[in-house]
Amino acid sequence: MSSIEINSVLVENRLFKPSATFTAKARLKAEDLEALYKRAEEDYEGFWGDLAKQHIDWHSPFTTILDDSLAPHYKWFTDGTMNVSYNCIDRHLENKSEKTAIIFEGETGDTRHISYQQLHDDVCQFANVLKAKGINKGDRIVIYMPMVPEAVIAMQACARIGAIHSVVFGGFSAESLRDRINDAQAVMVITADGGTRGGKIVELKKETDKALSKGCASIKNVIVLKRSGQDITMQDGRDSWWSDTIEGQDKTCEPEWVNAEDPLFLLYTSGSTGKPKGIQHASAGYLLNAVITNLWVFDLQDNDIFWCTADVGWITGHTYVAYGPLAAGSTIVMYEGAPVVPDAGRFWQMCEQHKVTVFYTAPTAIRALMKFGDDYPNRYDLSSIRLLGTVGEPINPEAWMWYHTVIGKERCPIVDTWWQTETGAHVLTPVPGVTATKPGSCTLPLPGMAADIVNEDGKSITEANTGGYLVITKPWPSMVRTVWGDDERYVDTYFPKFDGKYYLAGDSARRDDDGYFWIMGRIDDVLNVSGHRLGTMEIESALVANEAVIEAAVVGRPHDLKGESIVAFVICKGDRPVGDDAEKMVASLRNWVGEQIGAIAKPDDIRFADGLPKTRSGKIMRRLLRTIAAGEEITSDTSTLENEAVVEQLQGKV
Ligand code: WT7
Repeated sequence: MSSIEINSVLVENRLFKPSATFTAKARLKAEDLEALYKRAEEDYEGFWGDLAKQHIDWHSPFTTILDDSLAPHYKWFTDGTMNVSYNCIDRHLENKSEKTAIIFEGETGDTRHISYQQLHDDVCQFANVLKAKGINKGDRIVIYMPMVPEAVIAMQACARIGAIHSVVFGGFSAESLRDRINDAQAVMVITADGGTRGGKIVELKKETDKALSKGCASIKNVIVLKRSGQDITMQDGRDSWWSDTIEGQDKTCEPEWVNAEDPLFLLYTSGSTGKPKGIQHASAGYLLNAVITNLWVFDLQDNDIFWCTADVGWITGHTYVAYGPLAAGSTIVMYEGAPVVPDAGRFWQMCEQHKVTVFYTAPTAIRALMKFGDDYPNRYDLSSIRLLGTVGEPINPEAWMWYHTVIGKERCPIVDTWWQTETGAHVLTPVPGVTATKPGSCTLPLPGMAADIVNEDGKSITEANTGGYLVITKPWPSMVRTVWGDDERYVDTYFPKFDGKYYLAGDSARRDDDGYFWIMGRIDDVLNVSGHRLGTMEIESALVANEAVIEAAVVGRPHDLKGESIVAFVICKGDRPVGDDAEKMVASLRNWVGEQIGAIAKPDDIRFADGLPKTRSGKIMRRLLRTIAAGEEITSDTSTLENEAVVEQLQGKV
């Protein structure tokens, strides 16, 4: 038997040791890792200070390592100056200017190889465009682009001149784009005519126009990359084509030497309120954790070809596509398109073709591809792959085993990496070549990452298989600095308990007998749909903004492929829609949420009733709604409900 049930949680006891072949060539050996833990334990600041000297090229060195005088607003390496783009590009030019930095492939198969020298020239040219358009250090620029090299070039160009980018995932709607522009008071949007996904055009410029048609007064310029080639409208005086703007621009651009703490970027993410928050990251601290995790966890070495399938619209696409691997001098693969075009073998075909050595994706993608069977991966030569990774949600042991056997051929370690937009980089993860893994566990904290599981009083839970709050008890360089424009929300969200001393991740977790961490779920009203975070309140606000809706409650339901799917309970104005009317209303509300937030937020199931189940004090009974959504039997007593009759309506019985 491979797993046993304890307190109704599955305890996995299969242990996978890294192969001797992998370990022999790995960057970190057991003794190196041991030494790192020891150093972090003995001299926490010295540990980070050494790493910062070793892995970042400073323009002027720092003398302060950690400044906690304004805790929990921590500052790292404050008096040092540096530039992130310089660290990702220029410092490699002496020895590897001709090395490929980016291998790009479009959905229809067009490919491009971009060397570090070329990347330098393109980034500098575009940085000069930004300057010519009047962009100054500290200005916010929204990037709303497909997964093409120019997205990385735009991000790096912002970094080069000290502008703060906010990448908005291309799947978000005009409304979401507008909210993010306004919240950050961005002065420019960088977009494309359109992107391609699943054979369809993603109308980025059209959505941008829609966003800018109302409000968004802060936007002065829109730069448009020609990608899909479809007809779009360009507004005189505001919009210009990328290709026109770079015409005649210099291919060198002296980096802006920014302060270590100057913001590098904002990335909006969902929380437990209706409004996504702008997670603000600093320059040097972020870069440091990005580099070391690419070296330690992905073991990136000179000949590696690293493919992280995440879109640059998410944090994973920042740390493990646009910044970290480049800072480590590696070669990355970027793919614009769907994993199932032309068929479910696309990822594996690309791994073969580009000789990918390190492959990093989400459990939802693994499950989706696993469903198509072993024939697709078996058609391709996957022998170049030496290391696999997952991120975004707990991976179920079945998918882990498939990844391990069918993709990794039992040869490749799997790093299940737990982290968040706010942590900037990996926190809990195996170190390949050293840590033995268990299917479904993100194993242990990295050196310097003081992750713990505590009870309500902030006391560490040492008892095995007992759940508690996942916290990080010491500040670390790549931690979120604040919520853009809202210091109070930063403190309230991440330091609401434990005397404001511990960073509260928002996840619950337990440790097994070996001290391995197992993530159990969120403690707030945040759903994890296909590895993406969505706030239930955010979807509820979108629903009630529809004129037909009076009240709405959104909960998650376990889903085989997506992890969780979205179920909405809706009260409409007038009579409860039934039959055809209900069907029409479902379609219209799904569409509406797609417009308000983006396709990823469309509820999978919408049910109507005359009211929501509430306690006599008027609280929506969310736990009951989750039971109903899951189709499970209701065991709790519903007779105390204010309106018991609605339960049967929501169950679809009447
Ligand atoms: C939340 C963060 C970090 C990049 C992707 C998502 C969940 C993330 C794992 C994992 C179990 C995971 C957590 C976390 N999560 N990685 N390996 N095992 N859960 O970033 O949108 O900031 O979401 O994703 O719940 O809090 P994000």
